Amino acid sequence: MTMEYESNSWIWDGLYYYPHFFGGLMLTAALLGVSTSYFGGIGVFSLPHLWSDCFHKKKCGKKKRVRVYMDGCFDLMHYGHANALRQAKALGDELVVGVVSDEEIIANKGPPVLSMEERLALVSGLKWVDEVIANAPYAITEQFMNRLFNEHKIDYIIHGDDPCLLPDGTDAYALAKKVGRYKQIKRTEGVSSTDIVGRILSSMEDTKACEDHNNASLPRDPLRAIQSKDAHLSQFLPTSRRIVQFSNCKGPGPNARVVYIDGAFDLFHAGHVEILKKARQLGDFLLVGIYTDQIVRFSTLSEFDALEHRGSYHPIMHLHERSLSVLACRYVDEVIIGAPWEVTKDMGQSDPYEVAKSMGIFQLLESPKSITTTSVAQRIIANHEAYMKRNAKKAVSEKKYYEQKMFVSGD
Ligand code: CTP
Repeated sequence: MTMEYESNSWIWDGLYYYPHFFGGLMLTAALLGVSTSYFGGIGVFSLPHLWSDCFHKKKCGKKKRVRVYMDGCFDLMHYGHANALRQAKALGDELVVGVVSDEEIIANKGPPVLSMEERLALVSGLKWVDEVIANAPYAITEQFMNRLFNEHKIDYIIHGDDPCLLPDGTDAYALAKKVGRYKQIKRTEGVSSTDIVGRILSSMEDTKACEDHNNASLPRDPLRAIQSKDAHLSQFLPTSRRIVQFSNCKGPGPNARVVYIDGAFDLFHAGHVEILKKARQLGDFLLVGIYTDQIVRFSTLSEFDALEHRGSYHPIMHLHERSLSVLACRYVDEVIIGAPWEVTKDMGQSDPYEVAKSMGIFQLLESPKSITTTSVAQRIIANHEAYMKRNAKKAVSEKKYYEQKMFVSGD
């Protein structure tokens, strides 16, 4: 790693040395801009390479390029999924990702929170992904496996070291294992879609309990409140190694136009990918400021008041989790973990972008998508019975994984 990166001084120096330093406010509004007909059947598309990192270059010799395939639901995509794809990419040169169809997820796991299109946008936005196959099957059937080998020139099929069982109890990857074309990566501990749904559902219960207490004017049981919150506290241990693994490890080049955008980026979704793409197109280097948990809690209160969900369940993902999700995005070059928001007590009247505006470097970006963190949480709350059922089923297999897990190297 270079001194330039270690010192981090360019982050703030950039304000003075780079003539085109834009400012941006993250807004999540507007519509999906992707043709839905595209995703009707199993569709394949390649993704742009915004940068060729040092690890990638090493592998660009004359040797046959190894193509690996990893599939998944990637519902409520989190840094565990990103880390799985990062590890899969390291097992080959080109990573093809199969995004399982809505119908197959319903049949095997229960209803997904995000649609095919939204999950596809998230997976396509990851820096390690080269190609995406839409509407992939949940199990590696003989027919699909042959398609992977013959049509997509796949050398290995990869999955995490957690068992992936079909409703009849058989292994979804049995065929790939049988023909010796299966490889395994280490599942990332401390996060899962089940856990995220659980965090949202438990805050919903907290909110309800709070409302009941307000209505009944009875003191709330503080122990119960703490227990309920603790049940879904993040188990993630942010290490510097993980941050380095996710990082591009370089600062902006000379005369680069650095674009700065800030926000909460909670429950990283398709709208975030789109706005980051737009912001990156404004310059040569995208620096993203991720607000502290405290700022997010404060700044989202009014939105939740309007929805009658006053409470402290934002952020759902804490600062380090949100930072890794943003860092995994192909349009992002660097993040500030815990960015400031020049906020005063009378936040409503103050403008956090006043300085940037006075310097003439502020630009407002409209999000092309209507999805927001709140709307994703609302989908789960509105359909909470189905998600509770789905979670109960998945929680059993997750518990089993943690009890029986064996170390798998390669992380
Ligand atoms: N994965 C991982 N670490 C996690 C979660 C998922 O390595 N914490 C891996 C899985 O092993 C799989 C891929 O990510 O290879 C896609 O997982 P997915 O099909 O989306 O679902 P789950 O394994 O059920 O994970 P989750 O409950 O988080 O959705």
